[in-house]
Amino acid sequence: MKLIDKFGRTIDYLRISVTDRCNLRCVYCMPEKGVENMPHDEILRYEEILKIVDVAISLGIKKIRITGGEPLVRKGIVQFLCELSQRKIDFSITTNGILLGDFADDLKKVGVRRINVSLDTLDELKFSEITRGGVLKKVTTGILKAKAAGINPIKINTVVLSDTNDEDIKNFIEFVKENGLVLRFIEHLPIVDNKKTNFAQFEQLFKLKYKPILTAIEGFGTGRYYKINGATVGFISALSRPFCQKCNRLRLTSDGKLLSCLSSLDVVDIKKAVRNFFSDDRIKNLFFEAVKNKPEKHTFESPRDCMNIKNMAEIGG
Ligand code: GTP
Ligand code: 5AD
Ligand code: SF4
Repeated sequence: MKLIDKFGRTIDYLRISVTDRCNLRCVYCMPEKGVENMPHDEILRYEEILKIVDVAISLGIKKIRITGGEPLVRKGIVQFLCELSQRKIDFSITTNGILLGDFADDLKKVGVRRINVSLDTLDELKFSEITRGGVLKKVTTGILKAKAAGINPIKINTVVLSDTNDEDIKNFIEFVKENGLVLRFIEHLPIVDNKKTNFAQFEQLFKLKYKPILTAIEGFGTGRYYKINGATVGFISALSRPFCQKCNRLRLTSDGKLLSCLSSLDVVDIKKAVRNFFSDDRIKNLFFEAVKNKPEKHTFESPRDCMNIKNMAEIGG
């Protein structure tokens, strides 16, 4: 039995947040003082996640993305990814890259073939401001190490902020061209703050200035991709050009809740079922319940007010 929602969308992509902790404090993701971390025993153990993964695979999930917080800060992550790679499923991780230099070789060894790295500017000072104290060099070194280890593709996720300027764009294009990376500009989602950016205009200006060539749509329809002097540059505009119609995903939070949409307040608790060794059928039913309530589209226009899901780090983007 497959996961198909009431709008006819087949759900075959599961995003799994393995921790709500992060070694950065990006302005658009977390409040300045950070957030209270979840108590340790609320967090799903790796074996519990793997149980959920196995049930998900039996329901037709074909692609898994590991997110956080920052997944590389969780102890035992390499061993977990090694277990995941034995599942013969397409999987990848999204990281902020701070620890990538330390992990790149091990990731490759255990079967991580491709990764996405969040990086919003190549200016040291701006980077430190956006991340509230992060060191840019660690990320760029990490990316190069991952490349040298043979991880490919490496996609750079760049959230477009109100002060993202021509200089940032130019530097990014050079950087991705030189190192054979994919660049993706991401529209800011008002989860922590309500700062609006004009993403459509940003894309328009980029097109006028660089005259890129539109290529085939990649990445499960979330982005539009252009080629510019050999570099690939994508635009992911969840607000101005939503891709909800083609949405194929479910999310699992680090404390074991299934979320049918990034903006959904409706959660299905799956932790109790795996922790108490409920039958596979009962766990499957929780997946069906989550999919049944999947909204037609996101509600980022209206203010979010949710006790369970306060920030992007809990949801994993
Ligand atoms: P690949 O296509 O496999 O590279 O992964 P991805 O783009 O799904 O994952 P990634 O973690 O790199 O996410 C990139 C950005 O896409 C996130 O920062 C979000 O802004 C956006 N995004 C991903 N999934 C969704 C979604 O379901 N809804 C919305 N609105 N935005 C999403
Ligand atoms: N708007 C858009 N993207 C965001 N991310 C985190 N917070 C936001 C936000 N408010 C992105 C990160 C990461 C991805 C998983 O989610 O930059 O690349
Ligand atoms: Fe899917 Fe919700 Fe994202 Fe739309 S906002 S693409 S429905 S998860």
